[in-house]
Amino acid sequence: MTTPANNQPTTLPGRYFTDQEIYGRESERIFSREWIYVGRESAIREAGEYFVHIQDEERIIIARDLEGEVRAFYDLCRHRGTGLCSSDEGKFGKYITCPYHAWSYSLDGELASAPNMEETEGFQKADYPLKAAHCGTVMGAIFINLSDDPVDFDTHFSPLEKRFASWGIGGLRTAHQVEYDVAANWKLIVQNYSECYHCPTVHPALNELSHFRATANDLEEGPFLGGPMEISRPGGGMTTTGERCAPHLPGLEGPDLQRAYYYFIFPNMLVSLQPDFVLVHRLVRNGPGRSLIACEWLYHPDAIAEPDFDPGPAVQFWDETNSQDWTICERSQAGVSSRAYTPGPYSSLETMLAVIDRQYLQAMS
Ligand code: FES
Ligand SMILES: [Fe+2]
Repeated sequence: MTTPANNQPTTLPGRYFTDQEIYGRESERIFSREWIYVGRESAIREAGEYFVHIQDEERIIIARDLEGEVRAFYDLCRHRGTGLCSSDEGKFGKYITCPYHAWSYSLDGELASAPNMEETEGFQKADYPLKAAHCGTVMGAIFINLSDDPVDFDTHFSPLEKRFASWGIGGLRTAHQVEYDVAANWKLIVQNYSECYHCPTVHPALNELSHFRATANDLEEGPFLGGPMEISRPGGGMTTTGERCAPHLPGLEGPDLQRAYYYFIFPNMLVSLQPDFVLVHRLVRNGPGRSLIACEWLYHPDAIAEPDFDPGPAVQFWDETNSQDWTICERSQAGVSSRAYTPGPYSSLETMLAVIDRQYLQAMS
């Protein structure tokens, strides 16, 4: 938004953080249209392994099929609509079997058997595969798209894949993961991530390691937004000790060895590229004022295999940083929910937030 007086960008009106109708419009115009990050491929390594991605009322089964492809299906039976999964993660056998009348689907979604339905005139199993959602993988990350006609996955993500190639994210493994339940709107979390104006006050320890003004944006338009921050100490890392927990990732060279990059992948993924690891945040909306945030620390398998590998200082540092962020986001949520709140001006250190708001409003219009 902009103030009429001086055309300066301002924060969004309060209803964007509290209103159920706007939340519903986001579901329809953003979360049912865009590519949504749902998790890492490594969570379902073997055929039949699955997890359920829950998005508003929808439950989407993300499963590995017999050919090794990742598939996405709505969690409902084609007979009478019953939910197929009795738990939110696990491993199917060769078939996904409905608990009601035992219709069974192969892992590629085809209806393989439907007991006694041969007595039903005109019934053809081929007419009742599971309802699929569009699904794609890049850099070890799984994305789904619930629209009938999504933007082409490869076209959409190829610039990102090229930009992030040196970190080799697809080959990294999860060394630690944690989920946070935060009483704040998802956009407050994204905005908080996308500026370091708050770093000296909210994150004094982080500001020691990487000064809040030693930052820039190198992707300033489009679905991927953000840029680098310099790490102050030569060879240092963003950890409680200021030392790295692993050697730098093998594909990195030059200035990337001394930088951390922070990107927002519209609409629900945050990627922090460090010299020695990659931190990924996945955001899930749980109502206008609540968000689930799943966070994973990804390291090179060779580093993880070292007997003395200990990601603890990185985990602790980012867990503390996250907690500081969630606390301030929850306070923001409380404030923007007040009848007295009116939009405030963005600073010159928050230009990315105005870009994000603009992009968000465009997607919503
Ligand atoms: S509802 Fe699934 S088999 Fe009847
Ligand atoms: Fe922060």
